[in-house]
Amino acid sequence: CGIFGYINYLTPKSRKEILELLVNGLKRLEYRGYDSAGVAIDGPDNKDVALIKNTGKVQMLQTKIENQSADLQMEEKIETHCGIAHTRWATHGVPNEVNSHPHRSDDNHSFVIVHNGIVTNYREVKVFLQKKGYYFESDTDTEVIAKLILMFYKEHPTYSFRELVEQVVQQLEGAFALCFKSKHFPGECVATRRGSPLLVGIKTKTRLATDYVPILYGKDDTPRKSAESDNAHSEHRPHCHEKIPVLPRSESTSEFQPLEDKEVEYFFASDASAVIEHTNRVIYFEDDDVAAVKDGALSIHRLRRSLDDPHSREITTLKMELQQIMKGNYSHFMQKEIFEQPDSVVNTMRGRVNFDNMTINLGGIKDYIPEIKRCRRLMLIGCGTSYHSAIATRQLLEELTELPVMVELASDFLDRTTPVFRDDVCFFISQSGETADTLMALRYCKERGALIVGITNTVGSSICRESHCGVHINAGPEIGVASTKAYTSQFISLVMFALVMSEDRISLRQRRTEIIEGLKNLQEQIKAVLMLDGKVQELAKDLYQQKSLLIMGRGFNFATCLEGALKVKELTYMHSEGIMAGELKHGPLALIDDQMPVLMIVMRDPVYIKCMNALQQVTSREGRPILICEEGDEETSSMASKVLQVPRTVDCLQGILTVIPMQLLSYHIAMQRGCNVDCPRNLAKSVTVE
Ligand code: G6P
Repeated sequence: CGIFGYINYLTPKSRKEILELLVNGLKRLEYRGYDSAGVAIDGPDNKDVALIKNTGKVQMLQTKIENQSADLQMEEKIETHCGIAHTRWATHGVPNEVNSHPHRSDDNHSFVIVHNGIVTNYREVKVFLQKKGYYFESDTDTEVIAKLILMFYKEHPTYSFRELVEQVVQQLEGAFALCFKSKHFPGECVATRRGSPLLVGIKTKTRLATDYVPILYGKDDTPRKSAESDNAHSEHRPHCHEKIPVLPRSESTSEFQPLEDKEVEYFFASDASAVIEHTNRVIYFEDDDVAAVKDGALSIHRLRRSLDDPHSREITTLKMELQQIMKGNYSHFMQKEIFEQPDSVVNTMRGRVNFDNMTINLGGIKDYIPEIKRCRRLMLIGCGTSYHSAIATRQLLEELTELPVMVELASDFLDRTTPVFRDDVCFFISQSGETADTLMALRYCKERGALIVGITNTVGSSICRESHCGVHINAGPEIGVASTKAYTSQFISLVMFALVMSEDRISLRQRRTEIIEGLKNLQEQIKAVLMLDGKVQELAKDLYQQKSLLIMGRGFNFATCLEGALKVKELTYMHSEGIMAGELKHGPLALIDDQMPVLMIVMRDPVYIKCMNALQQVTSREGRPILICEEGDEETSSMASKVLQVPRTVDCLQGILTVIPMQLLSYHIAMQRGCNVDCPRNLAKSVTVE
C-alpha cells in the first residue's frame, strides 16, 4: 500500500488544488498497490471531513472526485489544511469501497487514518472495542486504529493529537506506517511508523534554517541500552553528508518547535518518488518516531529513550530527479526500464570497476572484506526477482570465494528457523529495501550475530539502514511492478562482490580478467540484445494465446528460466514454469508433446552438451522448442522452430544477456493479451507485509 499526506501552512491552496496534489501523490505510489484508493480532506464548511474512496486504480478515484464532488472543487483558498490519501493492496478484506482507506472512527469522521502494513493483534483490539460498544463497518485490521484513537480522545479530552496517537500505537502489534487527520485538530497531521516505510518531504520558500530536526523524548526518559546499535555503514546511509549536531535534550516537549518557517508544506509518503516533484528535502522516519505537524512546526517524538539513540533526525537531500520517475517516450514504465539497462548496468559499475587496472572497489563493503573472507558461509536471501539474482550468481560466488553459498527465499528461511551463526555473512537482496519477508529475515540473522550486507536499490530504505554494510545497486528508480533493470544490476553487484573477494588470488587472475572484460562489453551487448525487440514481438504473437510456457536451461542460465517464468506469470497471467534442464527427465518431460510451448536456453558453455541432450529429449517427443542461443550458432539454431540469438559473453555473465529477451517476451505477450503491464492484477511492487 502507499500512503500520502499533505499539510500546508500559510500557503493558500484551494480544495481543488489539494485534491489534485493528493491524487498525484497517489499516482506516484500506485505501484505499491492499486486495488482501491481514497482521500480525506476538510469539507466545504471547513468543519467536516470529507472522505472519497473508490475501488480500482487511482484514475478511477480521480474521475469520481471530478464528477461527484463539485462542492469540493471550489476555488476558495485555504491557508492551512491537512489531507491524507491511500492506494491499497488488499490484505484483510476484499478490495471494495468500505474496506478502502482512509478509515474513519465514526460517522462524524472525528478521526480518519491511512495505514500501510498489518496490525497482527487487531482481533483482540476489535473484540475489546466491540465490548465497549464500537461498531465496525469494514473487514480490515486498520479500522481498529481509527476506533482506538476515538476511544482515547473521549477518555483524555485534554491530550494533544500527538499524545493520542502515542496512546494508540502502544496498543498495536505488527507493522505499520500511519497518517492521522482529525476534525478536532484542524490543520494538524500526525504520522508514525513501525516496520513499514515512511518519510516526510519539507518544502519551504527559503532554505531551511537547520539540517536536522531534534528528537523529543517522552516522560519515561531514563536512557536504556537498546537491543542493537545502528552501525550502518556510511555509504549505505542516505547521502549522509551533513553532520548531525548533538543537541541538549529538550525539557519541555510541548512548546518546542524545531522547524519553523512562515510558509511551509509537508508531504508524508511511503517513498520518495511521491514527493520529489515538490521538494528534495526529506526526513526518513525510524521505527516508533511519532511526527506531528502543528502550526507549521514539525516535531518528532519518541516515547522512550535508549542510550544510543540519536538526538536528531537528519534532513536528507535527495539526488533523485523527477525525470527518472516519468515514463518519457515509452508506453510503460516496464518498457522504459528494460530499455534503460545499457545505462543502468553502467551506473551499477560506475566508480567501482576500474577497467584500466582491472580492480574493483565497493566502498560500502570494503572495510568488511577481511571479516567476510574469514566467514563460515555466505547466505543470500531475498524474494521474487531478487532471489533469482542470488541463484544467478551463486555458482560464480562459489567459484571465486570457495565458500559455501546458501541461497534462500526469505519466507522459507524464516519458516524453517534456519540455524545462523556469528561467523555467517548474510546478504539481503531487495530492490525496494522494504520487503517485509526479507527485512524480517535480516533482523533474525542480525539477532544471531551474523554480519548483515544489504544489496538494495533504494537509498534510505529499511534494509539499507539496518545493514552493517552493503552495495547500492544504483539502477535508478524502478516503477514497473515487474522488476527488470534491478535484476541485472543486482546480478552485477553480486559479480563485483565475487571479484572483490578474489582479488588476491593469483590462480584466479585470468578468470577475473575475463569477467572484468565481460563487464566492460556489457553495455554494447545489451544494446544488441534490445535490437531483438521486433523479433520478440513477433514471437509473442505466436505465443499469446497459449495456456502455458515452459522455460528450460541449466548452469549459469537456470536463473534466467526462473526469472523468465516469473515475468510471464506476473505480466501475462499465463502459466509458466522455469525448469532445470537436468530435471527434465525426472518429471517435466511428461508435459511435452507437439502442442506444449517450450523455450530453451542453450549457450556454448560448460553445460552445452547436457543442454543439447535435453533439447533432443524434447524434439524426440515432437516438441518444437524456441531457442535462445549464441549469435552465429547455426548448428544449434537448426534444431529449433524459432531462434533468438544473443551475443556471447563470459559464461557467468551470460544470464544478463539471456534474461532480456525474456523480459521483452513477457512484455509483448502481456500487450497482446491486453494486460496492464505496469500494474499486474493482485500484485504490488513493494510488499511491506509478511
Ligand atoms: C514483490 C514484487 C516482485 C519482487 C519482490 C521482491 O513480490 O512484486 O517483483 O521481486 O516483491 O521485492 P524486492 O523489493 O525485495 O526486491
